[in-house]
Amino acid sequence: MLNMCKWTGVAAGVLAAVVMFASFGCTKGNKGPKGTKESPWIIGMSQCNEGEPWRAQMDKDLKATADKHDNIKLVIKDAQNNVTTQQDQVREFITQKVDLLIISPKEATPLTPPVAEAMKAGIPVIVLDREIDGDDYTCFIGGDNRVIGKAVGQYVAKVLNGKGKVVELKGLQTSVPSKDRHDGFIEGLGDKLGEGKIEIVYSADDEWLENKARDDMKSALAKCPDIDLVYGQNDPMAHGAWIAARDAKREDKMKFVGIDALPNEGVQYVKQDVLTATFYYPTLGPEAIETALKILKGDKVEKINKLPTKIFTKDNVDKGGEVVKP
Ligand code: FRU
Repeated sequence: MLNMCKWTGVAAGVLAAVVMFASFGCTKGNKGPKGTKESPWIIGMSQCNEGEPWRAQMDKDLKATADKHDNIKLVIKDAQNNVTTQQDQVREFITQKVDLLIISPKEATPLTPPVAEAMKAGIPVIVLDREIDGDDYTCFIGGDNRVIGKAVGQYVAKVLNGKGKVVELKGLQTSVPSKDRHDGFIEGLGDKLGEGKIEIVYSADDEWLENKARDDMKSALAKCPDIDLVYGQNDPMAHGAWIAARDAKREDKMKFVGIDALPNEGVQYVKQDVLTATFYYPTLGPEAIETALKILKGDKVEKINKLPTKIFTKDNVDKGGEVVKP
């Protein structure tokens, strides 16, 4: 009897200690549970570079949306267009045990393992804009580059009346949007592509960069006496090509088409008659943050989320462009 009392007393003591320890754990630093103003969820964002206008805008949109929610804290790391830096930064976020990771990877293959490591560590991952290999991530949000490329192809076939010489300046070949924007373009040209019809007379990998496109366009101009249209897979590259053509006094002889349609970039180029058309590529900031919140709250989200595009031409630019039906 005496022994039993003794053991009951010990058990009660242990239980009290456990309860005290547990409640101390919850209220550590008076912070309360995660996902509150006092103890916000930490979202780590790995941006492949902040130098390009479209990405600078994406980061602005991410910050503006995150600022509307006091239960999250957004930390952005800029990998400055370097794959190794981006891999290291993702791993730093994993070590810091962020609550969720957003990544806009420079290239698919080298960023696939760090994302898998985050998933393995129990950190949900939203992949933005450029895909990684496989499907080991929580969800993907991006524009539909295949649909955009196809819309460009259909537009080019129409604007050239099915005949002309085209230069294609591509984005980084190891990033998925470039391949999709090309494959879609070929699909959109359809049976208008071929000898004596629409011909691609010059193409180059310009890694999404304006200055590379300008240099390659110089080579294209030297090699091809007749160019009717330049398809830049983003607006900076289309603009770089236009500068090279203007320097050669040939810009009036050809049309320029780009993708992104930022209000202060591609849309202005259309208004200034630099581009004949640009196709909208959403910067994804609001969608990424709202989706992150859902995941953190435990709500289900779609695995693949592709947003629609719009075309901007001289005719519709003042009306905010026109939605493209896939
Ligand atoms: C910026 C950018 C955009 C383009 C996107 C494709 O880095 O090149 O101009 O639309 O990436 O991933």
